[in-house]
Amino acid sequence: MKKSFQFPPGFLWGCSTSAYQIEGSPLADGAGPSFWRRFSHTPHMMVGGDTGDVACDHYRRMEDDVRLMAGLGLNAYRFSISWARVLPEGTGKINQKGLDFYDRLVDALLGSAITPMVTLYHWDLPEALDNRGGWLNRKVADWFADYAAVCFRRLDDRVKLWVTLNEPWVVTDGGYLRGALAPGHRNLFETPIAGHNLLRSHARAVQVYRETGKHRIGLVVNIEPKHPASDSPQDAEAVDLAHAYMNRQYLDPVFHGRYPQKLRDVFGEAWPRWPADDLELIRRPIDFVGLNYYTRAVVHYDPDGYPDKAKPVPQRNATYTETGWEVYPQALTDTLLWLKENYGNPPIYITENGAAFYDPPTVEGDRLEDPLRQDYLKKHIKAAHAALDAGADLRGYFVWTLLDNLEWSQGFSKRFGLIHVNYATQKRTRKASADLYQRIVESNGQVLDEM
Ligand code: BGC
Repeated sequence: MKKSFQFPPGFLWGCSTSAYQIEGSPLADGAGPSFWRRFSHTPHMMVGGDTGDVACDHYRRMEDDVRLMAGLGLNAYRFSISWARVLPEGTGKINQKGLDFYDRLVDALLGSAITPMVTLYHWDLPEALDNRGGWLNRKVADWFADYAAVCFRRLDDRVKLWVTLNEPWVVTDGGYLRGALAPGHRNLFETPIAGHNLLRSHARAVQVYRETGKHRIGLVVNIEPKHPASDSPQDAEAVDLAHAYMNRQYLDPVFHGRYPQKLRDVFGEAWPRWPADDLELIRRPIDFVGLNYYTRAVVHYDPDGYPDKAKPVPQRNATYTETGWEVYPQALTDTLLWLKENYGNPPIYITENGAAFYDPPTVEGDRLEDPLRQDYLKKHIKAAHAALDAGADLRGYFVWTLLDNLEWSQGFSKRFGLIHVNYATQKRTRKASADLYQRIVESNGQVLDEM
């Protein structure tokens, strides 16, 4: 029998975005600054000196953008709330106008039969909290729990899917180890502390949700499978270290209540002793795992590899995206099955998957051809389906991303959108990948049978 790519009934098809990357107007209506605003305003931190001051102007064009989503046939949309819009000082006084924006967004989505998935933290910590130590201060877990409670109180009557954190690994590796993301630190000793406090914060928010929320809450992690460059024992060791560091550091504590042993080797003397109570707090059931999958890495052992002794080896004859990531769909299937095997077959949403390929800054006409992105999406959605066939409990798929947007410190130079944005005019133009995705969504995958 010919294979069918039909997905199960009720499967969610969406796009993902995040607040700082699309909204613009970061200080409007009483909002406080986030540490991303400060970082992007710091000379030499951003490619092209770009900032999120305007970005896609989504804060002011939200209704139009929801119409674009409806036009794509989406039945789900994942966005994040900017903490500093809701609590300008990070704690204490609530800015109702900031909350009102997300309230209107949720209503607009529901009015178009689009299920919202809300991320509480997609990298934009209030600057006021960073000034008090941010993720390095143990108190951040209480600050985050209080902020989460404010969001639950206002939106849980309509929002049924919540995410505590987006990609804690990137928050710490980019923000505290390599300095490429806010707050721009480069400190091996701070890195595990920030990571641990992110986990404590996640857990406290889940705890609050169990007391007050009625629906489902999960955690979003980025997983990048590590493959050895050779059969040597050293390369196998590099794989183990890199895998523990990037892929298991956050999931093992949540599901198993312990950190991978290998993290001691990764961090050496920078690895602290944690209070046992913390791991009890962190280990608590979540309702789903959100998987962000983009690529794999082939690595070989390099004694100077920092901090995990793994050095990526470029692959011949492979396609690479504009962000330098190998296109490798098979590892999406593998990752979904790895989650199933290692973490008790949790419900999974692919909360991000997509690719930056070169698109021009301006477009004539009403369509932009983007064959490489179409190919990427087709192959990855098929790879997701293969994991369903093999028993993974996959419930939804979200493309990164709806609109070309601020790719963090890469500024506007990398375009991941299904919809092109001309940043000079804010004109939106659908790419051919948007048409393809619409056909996939509207046929619940079946159209892939002919592709
Ligand atoms: C993040 C997004 C980012 C995307 C592409 C993910 O790591 O969640 O915010 O734009 O990858 O780099």
